[in-house]
Amino acid sequence: MRILLLGAPGAGKGTQCKAVAERYGLEHLSSGDILRQERADGTDLGKKAQQFMDSGELVPDKIIIEMMAHAINEAPKSGFVLDGFPRTVNQAVELDKSLEADGSRIDAVLNLQVDDDIVVKRITGRRSCPACGAIYHIENIRPKVDGICDKCGEKLVQRTDDTEEVVLNRLKHYYEQTAAVVDYYRKNNIVYDIDANPAADEILALIFEKLDSLVNV
Ligand code: AP5
Repeated sequence: MRILLLGAPGAGKGTQCKAVAERYGLEHLSSGDILRQERADGTDLGKKAQQFMDSGELVPDKIIIEMMAHAINEAPKSGFVLDGFPRTVNQAVELDKSLEADGSRIDAVLNLQVDDDIVVKRITGRRSCPACGAIYHIENIRPKVDGICDKCGEKLVQRTDDTEEVVLNRLKHYYEQTAAVVDYYRKNNIVYDIDANPAADEILALIFEKLDSLVNV
């Protein structure tokens, strides 16, 4: 299965993708996580991406397309769930071309729809684990011990781009560039709209219901 989760920043892509990957035995490929790892490793790619990420701009297509082609190539044949990529129509076209060359395609696109005011609250309250990538929220999805990851005991951190000013810029780019990616995939009748405003477990149940029906076809 090759699945794509689309949605504004804070829609819950990362939160839901981790559970989807686990249930269906897929590789979770998050362009944001890969970029953050490149930055932490101090690579040239990470250095090039830094200024774009910190200001909420999109990293140029050329860099992202190459990076994600490599990640997809390395993914196991059982499939993957893409999180944060593609984010422009150009990225989607290039992704489709490379999958076609491999005799495959995207099977389903889950479009997480969330209100803007909820986005800002979720993003400014997010805390993440720098070691295992687990995602929490200071009010909505709290760790058992404040500031400490339940899964690996590491101290939780706040992403440098999780300020209100930067998230508003990320939202602007979402509406200007990424919303068109949903329409691009609608033509293939593979887009499933999901209300991403309720609690995370409610959204996950809807996602599992949809994906189970596709797997069992
Ligand atoms: P990226 O890391 O992909 O950020 P994003 O798309 O802005 O998405 P987020 O990670 O902020 O949100 P999410 O939807 O994953 O929400 P989450 O589950 O964490 O990209 C960062 C930057 O990298 C970009 O700005 C860009 O510069 C660059 N980049 C990446 N990919 C690129 C590409 N393809 N092209 C160009 N540039 C690229 O949840 C958010 C919070 O809400 C958490 O605290 C969580 O606990 C909480 N939460 C989740 N679900 C719920 C719920 N249902 N109810 C209550 N709280 C919830």
